[in-house]
Amino acid sequence: VNFTSDNTYGVAPEILAAINAANTGTVPSYGRDSGTHRLKELFSRLFERDVAVFPVISGTAANALSLATFAPPHGAIFCHAESHSMVDECGAPEFYTHGAKLIEVGGANAKLDPILLETAIARLRKGDSHSVQPAVVTITQATERGAVYTVQEVQTISRLAKGHGMALHMDGARFANALAHLKCTPADLTWRAGVDVLSFGATKNGALGAEAVVFFDPECVKDFEYRRMKGGHLLSKMRFVSVQLETYISNGLWLRQAERANALTAKLVAGLSAAGVEITNQPQTNAVFVRLPDETVARLRKGGAQFYDWEDSKDGKTVIRLVTSFATPDEDVSRFLSLVKE
Ligand SMILES: Cc1ncc(COP(=O)(O)O)c(C=O)c1O
Repeated sequence: VNFTSDNTYGVAPEILAAINAANTGTVPSYGRDSGTHRLKELFSRLFERDVAVFPVISGTAANALSLATFAPPHGAIFCHAESHSMVDECGAPEFYTHGAKLIEVGGANAKLDPILLETAIARLRKGDSHSVQPAVVTITQATERGAVYTVQEVQTISRLAKGHGMALHMDGARFANALAHLKCTPADLTWRAGVDVLSFGATKNGALGAEAVVFFDPECVKDFEYRRMKGGHLLSKMRFVSVQLETYISNGLWLRQAERANALTAKLVAGLSAAGVEITNQPQTNAVFVRLPDETVARLRKGGAQFYDWEDSKDGKTVIRLVTSFATPDEDVSRFLSLVKE
């Protein structure tokens, strides 16, 4: 029983088969192949407008390169205190931007609180060379706490960002899980709500290693191609990354997989609630956080369950994180629930 992360699971068979099928003959390198060119049309159809799309192989690179496109070295990037960019990317955004400053903002369920964001922005002194200057706001969809921003919430943050001359970036490492929950269109959740650039994740939801940076306005692309090359993310054998993205978004595979992952968490939550376990957040996607007595946590581990502690033990209880994926076996949910009830 492994609930540590969705990226502990493997690759969707459809994607692996597509990589295998792409493994014939010779094709132009560095993204000049027909499969990579096709992505522009496929993503433009998906997002209902002409987009620019750039495959990369990690979510960290997608985020850092996106942020660097909008933030100068003296720029400020506003992000949630728990966001991946803030705490889990080893300073990649600062590195790729050549020194922009990440400014953390609070908010429940790892969602940026617009009031706290406004306060943080107001603290900067615009036009004063002693202060970093507002450049980008980044939000994670779905968040690191398994929550989603509604379309209206994205709009609110976008208005705020734009009101201060900033761009809006969305870290969509789990964009599919958010969309599967909200059941709106990809367009409604992004550019129509004011998102300028999206890190479109696929790896966590079944790809081998493929993410796409999607710009909704070609004007915004600026020098992205040079940054991607300089940052080591223009792969020579790009066809194998592109074919993953193509297969992922074709025939609704990405949404089916995300729906399954979300449904497994919902099942887990229903069982845990029935067993009287304290759920610390109302999960909307494929991650749930629960507070359990330390003895129970130890017993679950002894029984073979794997998961991360998410907060330090307090008053004899620990908050743990449970994540389900597109490939989590159904039985793992029932096995975990029986362990809890033992
Ligand atoms: C919200 C979020 N963004 C970005 C990433 C980065 O992805 P990668 O590990 O591919 O760099 C992760 C990975 O855990 C994540 O959870």
